[in-house]
Amino acid sequence: MRRRLWTLEEFPFHPEKLNHYETLFTIGNGYLATRGTFEEDFDGSMATTMVHGVFNHAQGVLVPELVNSFNWLPIHITIDGTPFQLINQNDTTPNPPGGAVLGYRRTLDLYRGVLLREVLFRAESGAIVRLSFERFVSLHDYHVLAQHIQLVAVDGNPEIEVESFIDPHVTNAGAQHWTDITTDYDDARVSVIAKTNQSGYTLGMASHLVAPGKVETVMDTANQRPVTRTSFTLRTEETADVYKFISVFTNRDVSPVALPGKLFDKLDSALGSGYDGLLQAHEAEWAAYWDTSDIQIEGDDTSQFALRFVTYHILIAAPRHDDDVSVGAKTLSGLGYKGHVFWDTELFIVPPLTLTQPRLARNLLMYRYHRLAGARHKAQANGYEGAMFPWESTDTGEETTPQWSDPQPDGHRIRIWTGDSEQHISTDIAYSLLQYWHWTGDHDFLIRYGAEIVLDTAVFWGSRVEHKNGRYEISQQIGPDEYHENIDNSIFTNRMVVWHLNEALKLLDWLNANAPADAKRLIQALDLTPARLDKWRDIIANMFIPFDEKQQIHIQFPGFFEMEFIPVPHYEPRTLSVQAILGHYRSIQTQVIKQADVVMLMALLGEELAPRDVLLNNFNTYYPRTDHGSSLSPAMHAWVASQLGLDEIAYEMFEHAGAIDLHDNKGNVRDGIHGAASGGLFQALLFGFCGLRLGENGPEVTPRLPEHWKSVSFTVYYRGEKRRIRVTNPVAVVPTA
Ligand code: BGC
Repeated sequence: MRRRLWTLEEFPFHPEKLNHYETLFTIGNGYLATRGTFEEDFDGSMATTMVHGVFNHAQGVLVPELVNSFNWLPIHITIDGTPFQLINQNDTTPNPPGGAVLGYRRTLDLYRGVLLREVLFRAESGAIVRLSFERFVSLHDYHVLAQHIQLVAVDGNPEIEVESFIDPHVTNAGAQHWTDITTDYDDARVSVIAKTNQSGYTLGMASHLVAPGKVETVMDTANQRPVTRTSFTLRTEETADVYKFISVFTNRDVSPVALPGKLFDKLDSALGSGYDGLLQAHEAEWAAYWDTSDIQIEGDDTSQFALRFVTYHILIAAPRHDDDVSVGAKTLSGLGYKGHVFWDTELFIVPPLTLTQPRLARNLLMYRYHRLAGARHKAQANGYEGAMFPWESTDTGEETTPQWSDPQPDGHRIRIWTGDSEQHISTDIAYSLLQYWHWTGDHDFLIRYGAEIVLDTAVFWGSRVEHKNGRYEISQQIGPDEYHENIDNSIFTNRMVVWHLNEALKLLDWLNANAPADAKRLIQALDLTPARLDKWRDIIANMFIPFDEKQQIHIQFPGFFEMEFIPVPHYEPRTLSVQAILGHYRSIQTQVIKQADVVMLMALLGEELAPRDVLLNNFNTYYPRTDHGSSLSPAMHAWVASQLGLDEIAYEMFEHAGAIDLHDNKGNVRDGIHGAASGGLFQALLFGFCGLRLGENGPEVTPRLPEHWKSVSFTVYYRGEKRRIRVTNPVAVVPTA
């Protein structure tokens, strides 16, 4: 069944969008993800499979990165001696050299998590074959991946040859991570095991090919890999089915000694279930996720599809069975940002999961709990107390932000300061965590794990602030707007620290009242003396919050308005950021803002920050100065604009956010999905247009839907219960269950 507005389609083949589409057509199951690379070779493709948690620091690379795992996709097909490949589109010559593609369609069914490619191909012999390539990575059994290729002889009686293998000779854009590659094979089965060369993770994959003809495996010595192959003849109108089952484990799942056995056991059980059985279980699992994650928008097909697309990408990236890994800025769909985890996860990706899949949100928050040692180490190394989370995080929990950029066009590298100065991340984590607690009422999580994070990061801030000029200040910061580096008194940071310390005190009160033994344990362990808590109160009362009384606006940081003013809207139409147009060194001395900064603060704190007229002044001041050089920006603007009644801007920003990956309007989707923009879109819709918030008695909405929308229906969990809510235009709120 083909559901409306659930499928991403490429028709016909767009070779110029090869890498962009590889990212969009990624499939995954929260354990691993694989880009939409083809089964056969294609020049310029970036075959990438990434398994959560497998990081390695290769020689010649500045920092550790998430490793490109073996390529399990290759299935090469030859038709009457012509290798099947995407060549000579629509060439109707009767015997085209190299063959010709006569038709092509690729569809990703978001509802079922299944990728299908159908191609009509004419071989040099003239034989015409219809090939369909279907694949999924099981959401039901996350160690199982499967491919089904169907060949139909449309014209002629072609001789078909099939070759399948697993390719461990893969790199991260040239960086070598794998060593000690070993292979094993018999008949239709192959296994490949290798280790990362610095961190020592072991990865194993095994495959089993089921196909007509005599299936056998031989060593391809030239390429150092076993190849499973078969051949058979098809008569006109005949169909052949080829199945490849793959199992995958790492030493994060089983001991290296047990790994080979596990690979084959899993393969046997997959074969026992059969392709259809595996697919059914996979689809049932997806249906259960969509039951709460799907948001339905009536009256705007583009937005509807965009929402489903981003939700799909969040769901395939979020770990289900593992609370020791987290989602990187580009999810698992590309090599961008090296798989590193930023604030993107907590403030953009976790909130949609908190509302719709709280179990997954908890996993992501636990990743930070398990990395407290790294955060404490960073604080200590910088001369502070408590826990200071790294700006970029991997498996170790240590700071992994590179200190230098890749070479610029003129060859020089730019110093990256975010790892030193973008310190607000510790508070972003606390914000996300407390939001999770308030919505879910997961006291167990809070008491056992979460409270320690909130309190020890508060300890960090207590030691980080500087008492100067009769008030508290924080110097050398980078706020969300990364164009302005090492500034003093970023309003985002200063104000969020006040919020953080306040919440930490409230949390302690709650613990004292509700879990006194745990309160005592934490007070002792984190040294929460009365003097320390008094200092927190003093900081709350005396923190410097830059504000212009005359204009009634918050100041992003003192000195901001003294810099050169650049009218950002005059730089339209543009595909580049204004920073790229003006150059790094000039733009950092202007008022051009990379992304929602004061506006981000407004999204997080709303009217707790200031009365509505001040918020409006802020928006009108900062919006025309922002070039949205970060994909995180438009959705936050949509959210805040909608809440301020700036409907046109809200919708424009929402559309912009929804197009970031689908239309590649930043030109970098080849490096992976923008995970934060995805989660941001979800939040812009619920917190912005629907005005969703948590009231005293549960979820409340104050909708302000775009004029042409008829309704929005969504589900949120509140304290373990599903609440189904429908808001309509003109405004009405209908709980539907
Ligand atoms: C943004 C950051 C973001 C990072 C990773 C940067 O361009 O400015 O806010 O965390 O990308 O997505």
